[in-house]
Amino acid sequence: LKRVRTRHFQRAKENGIKFTGLTSYDQLTAGIFDEAGIDFLLVGDSAGNNVYGYDTTLPVSIDDLIPLARAVAGAVNRAFVVADMPFGSYETGPDEALHTAFRFMKETGAHAVKLEGGVRSAEQIRRIVSAGIPVMAHIGFTPQSEHGLGGHVIQGRGEQVEQLLADAHAVEDAGAFAVVLEMVPAEAAARVTSELRIPTIGVGAGPHVDGQLLVWTDWAGFTKGRIPKFVKQYANLRKTLTDAVSAYREDVETGSYPGPEHSYED
Ligand code: KIV
Ligand code: NA
Repeated sequence: LKRVRTRHFQRAKENGIKFTGLTSYDQLTAGIFDEAGIDFLLVGDSAGNNVYGYDTTLPVSIDDLIPLARAVAGAVNRAFVVADMPFGSYETGPDEALHTAFRFMKETGAHAVKLEGGVRSAEQIRRIVSAGIPVMAHIGFTPQSEHGLGGHVIQGRGEQVEQLLADAHAVEDAGAFAVVLEMVPAEAAARVTSELRIPTIGVGAGPHVDGQLLVWTDWAGFTKGRIPKFVKQYANLRKTLTDAVSAYREDVETGSYPGPEHSYED
């Protein structure tokens, strides 16, 4: 089984083959997604919502993500593992960004890092890439700046497409090996995808991109409450687990668990 490398994504784009990614925060899901052939796993700062119970990704720290990234990287045989750089770990400049990237690469076994921002993060990307660390960029809606953007707002509509294109070219020129486009109109994503040499990865960016990425807990129907329009739910894990828990509780309360088949004899 050949490990996925950055060139896998470049070749996929050149050959018109779509690739897939999911987030993962633990070794169980990482092992399952890897065995099922998912090409890359993102240890996203969406762990803030999905693991740590924060309302946004803003409170997530490097130390929150390191053990999760280590678990995911340790569980895969084939998938490419990307560690997300959290809010406040790269914005002050290239030195801080490289320092954070070093921590993820040395302490987790991840294969690349991801950070948010186009033009504004280009120098950070350039510095990390120059140290031999692949960078996945992330433009369009960037959750770490949700307060600056005025909430969960679709980016790149109308004349805003020019800013999106400027961001896309900036991260490509800075050496990113791929770029995530989050919550942008399908037409804008198509334009970015045709203008860039590097592959584009859509999260709510329509079909005209080179790969797709989803937050696994949304995609598997695990998340409580509303999920974004762009998510297709492939399972209903929340219901499956809720039903299982209810059955377990009932069995214990009625005395039907544990039965003789679950008990040891002297
Ligand atoms: O943290 C995350 O899950 C992400 C993706 C949704 C792009 O950054
Ligand atoms: Na993220």
